[in-house]
Amino acid sequence: MLSEFDYLMKSNQICSKLYKHLICLDQVDSTNKFALNLSEKEHGICIYSKNQLHGRGREGRFWHAKENKSLALSILLDYPKNDRHKSLLPILAANSVCKTLEDFKIKSSIKWPNDILVNNNKISGILCEAEFTPDKNNYLVVGIGININLNSEDFLSEQKVYKINPTSMSIQLGCSFEIDKVCSSLLVNFANFYHMLDGNEDEIINFYNFNWGDKGKILNVQMGDKLITGKAISINSLGELLIKKNDKDFIINSGEIISSL
Ligand code: BTN
Repeated sequence: MLSEFDYLMKSNQICSKLYKHLICLDQVDSTNKFALNLSEKEHGICIYSKNQLHGRGREGRFWHAKENKSLALSILLDYPKNDRHKSLLPILAANSVCKTLEDFKIKSSIKWPNDILVNNNKISGILCEAEFTPDKNNYLVVGIGININLNSEDFLSEQKVYKINPTSMSIQLGCSFEIDKVCSSLLVNFANFYHMLDGNEDEIINFYNFNWGDKGKILNVQMGDKLITGKAISINSLGELLIKKNDKDFIINSGEIISSL
């Protein structure tokens, strides 16, 4: 992967503008944790592993991965000074995965805020984490996991109940994939969408809305201890979910969709 990364840095200006270097780890507990614990952090450092043992998921959940069958990538970024950019990071990360799957001929859809589904099954998850200390250089990490060569037995052997049934690229297309190639494509796509924060935010939102799978559906959304049901209208310029209930509009900036019809 390191030589592919060097090639990307030489051949792709948008990549070389964003990325500093890639740390490839044979084994890691969590690439997000590793990135946040680096003693010398820098904007654009990427952590990559094909053997992540304790992947962190959203809401304190565990992210299942298997050696040489899953991709785990974390991209360390300066903590955005602009709140709008901060809220768009998970959105553009979801776009990058969706575009990467498209590069490998897999049509996916996005479930707000940043789950990537194929035929209603989850193929990828994204976790953005930050440690914020006032008056210090702060960083945010965008962590992306993609199920690449896992098969149904790999998921069954976990003996756990998944919130959304999992799937993988190889289950979808019936062939195996080179994880390094998927990672290169993801790095290029992430850099391209990240670059759009510079004056082309509309393109980020348009791509997201185009690939958003819940438009027009009736959603049950959990927001803390509140449950709200309404019709999914759109994702606004801040990446927030707009739903309509009894002709009233609601804007949801954080929460989890627990069912959709
Ligand atoms: C989710 O859907 O719950 C989010 C899953 C995020 C998993 C990725 S894998 C790379 C990065 N490192 C982690 O520990 N988690 C994220």
